[in-house]
Amino acid sequence: MLIRENISLLPYNTFRMDAKAKIFAEYSSVEELRALLEQYKGDPLLHIGAGSNLLFTKDFDGVILHSAMRRARCVSEDADYVWIEAENGLVLDELIAQLCDMGISGLENLSYIPGEVGASAVQNVGAYGVEAKDVIESVRAVSIADGTERIFSNAECQYGYRDSIFKNELRGKYIITHVVYRLNKHFEPKLNYGDLSSEVGSDPTPMSVREAVIRIRQQKLPEVSELGSAGSFFKNPIVPREVYEAISAQYEKVPHYEQEGGIKIPAAWLIEQCGWKGKMMGGAQCYEKQPLVLVNRNNATPEDIVNLAAAICKDVQDKFGITISPEVNYI
Ligand code: EPU
Repeated sequence: MLIRENISLLPYNTFRMDAKAKIFAEYSSVEELRALLEQYKGDPLLHIGAGSNLLFTKDFDGVILHSAMRRARCVSEDADYVWIEAENGLVLDELIAQLCDMGISGLENLSYIPGEVGASAVQNVGAYGVEAKDVIESVRAVSIADGTERIFSNAECQYGYRDSIFKNELRGKYIITHVVYRLNKHFEPKLNYGDLSSEVGSDPTPMSVREAVIRIRQQKLPEVSELGSAGSFFKNPIVPREVYEAISAQYEKVPHYEQEGGIKIPAAWLIEQCGWKGKMMGGAQCYEKQPLVLVNRNNATPEDIVNLAAAICKDVQDKFGITISPEVNYI
């Protein structure tokens, strides 16, 4: 167990905000996590993963928890599937690289997403037509109130687009410690999204899909090691059909995807139409290659990012009557 006091959170968030935390505590087992929960009962707690989906807007006057549990093991298999249980602190992309190496598929479209296993199951990360929920069998979690363990089935996690029960009614109540994925021994590539199929080419393997996804991501998205960001800053809005039709009467070729409950219009397109692509506010920038991403271009303060996000939301609202909301968590 590692406990540090009054530390800078700079290394713990991909936006590279220099906020401070009163306590930073890292545990290496569920028993250590329980001991920390007991020790800091009543204090404000924030469990972080790789810090790739949050924005520290101020210092955190409480305890930041982080997992140093990073193992994965096979818990079951049959002729078609293998069930892998991964610990919450394992970097998701490291797990995916190993699985692709072994020819085990299901997670390859999520390659190169920055983040750890636990947070990716809270957030239901997604990319290139696959979401974490498609392969999550169950998650194991510890209650913050009393340290008891509970297993949630996939259905009990109430997954939605970048959403789960852990972001809603159980927010701040449980810490996911383990995720069980049901993965395929027989490869069924999912290549319907955008230009993935042409990038992969013929005879796809889990590894060739992984490599194609990485190439596409590297072309469009900033490397968090080089330029601070938290990936997509906003969620793509799902709007009623009438709203989409009104917009498509005014604009040629509005990109859109049919969804349950409406039409998804890429927020990137809406933001670009408002003229924000590449624009800066203070040290924050609307990324020039993918306007859904806000980047820390030049020593941005939290206010710079918050102000830029608010200005973009306002313009999208004024121009299209559509509310876009952040996918990033403001702390
Ligand atoms: N577009 C523009 N201008 C641009 C870029 C994109 O108009 O400069 C439009 C195009 O019509 C394009 C469409 O936006 O076809 C979609 O763009 P893209 O395929 O890059 O995906 P996205 O909807 O912007 C989502 C996820 C990403 C994920 C990609 C690929 C969300 C919030 N974001 O972005 O996830 O990698 O799809 O599946 O759903 C993340 O969550 O951090 C993230 C990067």
